[in-house]
Amino acid sequence: MLRRLMTALSMAFCLAVTALAANAQAPVRGSPRVEALLARMTIAEKIGQLVQMPGGRQKALNSRIDDNERARIRAGRVGSYLNVAGAEATRELQRIAVEDSRLHIPLLFGMDVIHGYRTIFPVPLAMAASWDPAVPERAARVAATEASAAGLHWTFSPMVDIARDPRWGRIVEGAGEDPYLGSVMAAAQVRGYQGVGLDRTDTIMATAKHFAAYGAAMGGRDYAGADISQRSLEEIYLPPFYAAAREGAGSFMAAFNEIGGVPAHANRALLRDTLRTRWRWPGVLVSDWNAVAELRNHGVAESEGDAAELALRAGVDIDMSSGAYADTLEARVRRDPQLLALLDEAARRVLMIKERLGLFDHPYERSDPANEAGAMLTPANRAAAREAAARSIVLLKNDGGLLPLAASAPRIALIGALAQDANSQLGSWRAQGHVEDVHPLLPALRAAMPHAEIETAGDEIPAAVAAARRADLVLLVVGEDFDMTGEARSRADLGLPGNRQAMADAVLDTGKPVVVLLMNGRPLAIHRLAERAPAILETWFLGVEAGPAIADVLTGRVNPAGRLPVSFPRASGAVPFPYARLPSGRPADADPAHDTTRYRDLPITPLFPFGHGLSYTNFTFSDFAVRPLPNGTFRASVIVCNDGARAGEEVVQLYAHDPVASVSRPIEELRGFRRIALAPGEAKRVSFTLSPAQFAIWDAGRWRIEPGEIQLMVGASSADLRGRAAFRIAGAGEGREPAAAIFTPSSEEPIR
Ligand code: BGC
Repeated sequence: MLRRLMTALSMAFCLAVTALAANAQAPVRGSPRVEALLARMTIAEKIGQLVQMPGGRQKALNSRIDDNERARIRAGRVGSYLNVAGAEATRELQRIAVEDSRLHIPLLFGMDVIHGYRTIFPVPLAMAASWDPAVPERAARVAATEASAAGLHWTFSPMVDIARDPRWGRIVEGAGEDPYLGSVMAAAQVRGYQGVGLDRTDTIMATAKHFAAYGAAMGGRDYAGADISQRSLEEIYLPPFYAAAREGAGSFMAAFNEIGGVPAHANRALLRDTLRTRWRWPGVLVSDWNAVAELRNHGVAESEGDAAELALRAGVDIDMSSGAYADTLEARVRRDPQLLALLDEAARRVLMIKERLGLFDHPYERSDPANEAGAMLTPANRAAAREAAARSIVLLKNDGGLLPLAASAPRIALIGALAQDANSQLGSWRAQGHVEDVHPLLPALRAAMPHAEIETAGDEIPAAVAAARRADLVLLVVGEDFDMTGEARSRADLGLPGNRQAMADAVLDTGKPVVVLLMNGRPLAIHRLAERAPAILETWFLGVEAGPAIADVLTGRVNPAGRLPVSFPRASGAVPFPYARLPSGRPADADPAHDTTRYRDLPITPLFPFGHGLSYTNFTFSDFAVRPLPNGTFRASVIVCNDGARAGEEVVQLYAHDPVASVSRPIEELRGFRRIALAPGEAKRVSFTLSPAQFAIWDAGRWRIEPGEIQLMVGASSADLRGRAAFRIAGAGEGREPAAAIFTPSSEEPIR
C-alpha cells in the first residue's frame, strides 16, 4: 500500500516536473539498464551510438560490409546501419556487436521500406487516394512483417511532407496537399509499422520524415529552401508530424531544406523547442543522408567539425552516413562540457530506442533465417496489395458511361509503352521488390475479358494509330515512368513527357472511343488530353498487383472510389494551386474583364480538384445539418444515398471555413471524411463530431480558438459541395494540438 502511494506520489511529482519544465527541456532519464550502460561508456562509445553507416546501397544491400566495418562494430564505433538486410547478414553483424564489443550493445538496422518490402504496394500518393487509412495501415503492417523477418528494426517511412507543388518529384512519396488527410495517413502508417508495440518482433520502428517543410521547396526543386511563414509551417506542414509523434513514431528524420535561411539540421527551434519541448516527443532523431556534413554547403558551417557541433546542438541524434560525428565530435566534446551533456542525451535516446525494440533482451529475434523466406510475398500479402491497389484507383472522367467495359467488348487496342512497363509499377522506392513479382495489365485483362481480342502497341505513333483503327475501343496508357518522380526528380513541365501527347492526339484523332489510363506519381497538367478523352482512370503506380487491380476496375468487378489527394493543375505554370487557398480581396471571377486573382489564359478552376473522383454509380446528399452537443462539441450529419444500379463507395468529405477571424482563413479546409459502401438504393446517415480546437488559429506561439461562426460544407470533392450548415463557437479558448492533426470521429448508420 505504502509502496503504491509512494509510486503515485512520485508519478505526480514527475508530472509536475515535466509540466514545469515545459519550457526548459527536462533532462530525460533512461531505464536503470540504460543509465548503467551510459555511465560505463567512453566518449568514443557514446559517439559510436550516434553513427549510422551505410552497410550497402539500395540496390546492393550489405555490399559495404567488410573487415573495416566489422572492426568498427567490435570497437563500438557504430550504432546503426542502413541498407543492410537479410536474416543471415544482420545476425552476423549483430553477433559481432553483442558478443565482441566491449559493452555488448546491439545494433539497429534500418532501410527505406516505403511502400512494401518484398510485397510492393501502391506508391504512397496512390494509397492516400484511397481516402481509407486502413489501406496504408495494412500496407505498413505487411511491410513490417516482411522487413522484420529480414532482420530490420527500422524504416525511414512514412514521408509525411505536405506537397502542394507537383513539380517536386517527391510528391509521390507522401499523402498530397492536405494537412488533415496527411495527418490521418501519417498516423495510420505509424500504427501499421509499429503494430501493438515495438518490442514485438513483427514490428519495425517508423520514421516521420522530413522534418520539416521539405515539400515547400521553392519552385518545386528538390533540396531547395522553403520560405514560408510560421503560420504556414504550424498549420500546414507540421500537423502530420505531430500526428505521427502522437501515434508514438519512434523516430523522426530532419529535412534537407532550410526554412527562412535555417537548415533543418541546424534548426534548434524546430528540433528542440517544437519537437522535444512543446510536443514532448521522446524518440530518436536521425539526419538525412549526408545532411550533417552538407551544413557546410548551406553556408552555416565552415568545417565538418562545425557542422557536427551545430547539428548536435540543434538536436540531431544520429548522423546518417556523413561521418561528421564519427570524425570530429570527440575533440569538440572533450573541449566543451555542454556538448558532453548533449552527447549523453543523444546516446541515451538511441539506447532507449534499442531497449524499446527489445534488442537488449532479444538481439537476434528479427534475424531468424527460418522465418525469413516464409514471410515474403505470401498469398495474404498479395491479396492485401491487390485490395490496396483497387482502392487507390481514381476515376477522373467517364463521359457517356464508357466505363466499365462491356463484358462483350470485342476488339481492344492496349496502347502505350507504359502498359507493358512492369518495372514502373514498383514505384521509386522498391526495397526488395522484384519486377518478376509484378502482375502486369495485359494478362490480367485477358483473364478478366476472355472473349475480347486484345492487341498491343507501344508509343510509336504509326503503330499506335494502326492498332487503334483496328479496334472497337482503345485503352491508352500514358503518363510518366517511375523514374520521373521520386528524389531529385523535379520537373518544370508537368505535361506528358516525350511524344506521348502527340501519340495520344493521333490516337484520339481516329475517333475511336478512348479510355485513358494514367500511370504517374504526380499530378500532371493534361488539359488537352482531359478535354478530348471521354474517360480517364488515374492508376498511379500500383505495385505487384497493379494489373489485376486495374482490370478489376475496368471491368466493373470493383467500382472505383479513390479520390485525389492533390489537385491537378491545368498548366505547369498554374502551380502551386492548393484548394485551401486564402481568400483574396479580389476573388477569382470567371469573367476576365474583371481584375481578379486569376490567370488570364486559363479557367479559374483546377483541372481536377482535390477530393475529386467518380463512381460507376451515383450518390445523392441530403439533410445536412449541424447541432451542438452538451459537451461543447458539434455533430454534423448528412444522408447519402446510392441512387444508381450498382453497389459503390462514396467518400463523404467535410470542409470548414471561418468567415470572419483575426486573420484571413482558407476558403475551405478538410476537417473530416468517411469512405462508405452503399448497395443500390441504400441510404446511410454519416455523422462527424467536431470540436472548437479544430478551428484554432496559430497565433504567436499558441493555438487560439476564436469565437464566432464556422461554416461547414459537405460534398463529394472540394469543388462538388452538396450541403451547407453553420455553427457558432461561443467563447475564446486555447487549443493544445495543431488543428489539422485533431481527428474527427465519424460514424455511419443505415436509414430505413
Ligand atoms: C532521402 C531519405 C532517405 C535517405 C536514406 C535520402 O536521400 O532523402 O528520404 O530515407 O536518403 O536512403
